Amino acid sequence: MKNETDLTSITQQIVSAGKGILAADESTGTITKRFDAVNISSTERNRRDYREMLFRSIGMKQNIGGVILFDETIKQESDDGTLLKDIIESQGALPGIKVDKGLKSITNSEVEKITDGLDDLDRRCKYYHKLGAKFTKWRALINQGNNLPTRHCIELNMRLLADYASTVQENNMVPIVEPEVLMDGKHTIDECYRNTSVTLEILMKFLDENKVDFNAIILKPNMITSGSENNDADTAETIAEKTVACLLSSVSEKIPAVTFLSGGQSDLQATSNLDMMNKLFKTPWKLSFSYGRALQQSALKLWSGNAKNIQLAQDAFSHRANMNKLAALGKWDKSLETNE
Ligand code: G3H
Repeated sequence: MKNETDLTSITQQIVSAGKGILAADESTGTITKRFDAVNISSTERNRRDYREMLFRSIGMKQNIGGVILFDETIKQESDDGTLLKDIIESQGALPGIKVDKGLKSITNSEVEKITDGLDDLDRRCKYYHKLGAKFTKWRALINQGNNLPTRHCIELNMRLLADYASTVQENNMVPIVEPEVLMDGKHTIDECYRNTSVTLEILMKFLDENKVDFNAIILKPNMITSGSENNDADTAETIAEKTVACLLSSVSEKIPAVTFLSGGQSDLQATSNLDMMNKLFKTPWKLSFSYGRALQQSALKLWSGNAKNIQLAQDAFSHRANMNKLAALGKWDKSLETNE
């Protein structure tokens, strides 16, 4: 693989000293849903102002090593003409880009989907690399419950993820590989364990077949939890034990970093579960975060589209970023949650 050292150092930089990733790559449809929930109109300007507010927060420094952007954001400038991606870099973080184009249906399935975007991926990678992206993200979605997932769906999606990863490395960027086994549903924690472990095993096999350099990827999985509509109350210890056991049985030790998605967990659950893993276990990979909602939801609510609220919203975001950095080091404690 080309420029192996450069790619490895990008990965190391993103997760150095407990840092993690801010996932700010919501598609226009998704950010509009999030804005609607707090009555903010989803204009291009509001989307830019919101993200600029996050990127200029003091808590970016020391806590965030990489930011995943959406196509619109990587080209956007603030009012003073500074590119948003340059603001990210001035905070010591690297800019990355979501390169999948969302989901499309699988023939003969009403629920299961595959991820779109492989056709022109090479061309788009060259374009984003020129714009300064150092890493990329591709999300594959696996549903659970009602006899799902099918092996067919897992194999199709993991094949696409592996093909994506090799194309990205050939274009000198680090691929974040995200096989999300969805938390939605009534499934038990053990069903989540089984479905995630099969998914990860197939993914490792295809990455290996594609000769993807494991030292230069970041894995972004779900934690092992029971479904969001299941009444079982999982403790942080149980989630930590099952998640680490699942990763140990299926994930290559060569991968330098595992950065979890938050997937619908509350801010505190996402922090506390990550912290517990790092307190209880020494793993072959760094265990850190690549959170969207669990980093942003309190800040978004406080901002509410009003410039008067910028400081409050930035404080909330900085606090979450700092709490998750501590969790990535296994040094978080509930008593630190003074902002909650
Ligand atoms: O693809 C999913 C996002 O990058 C992570 O979002 O932490 O809200 O699940 P989340």
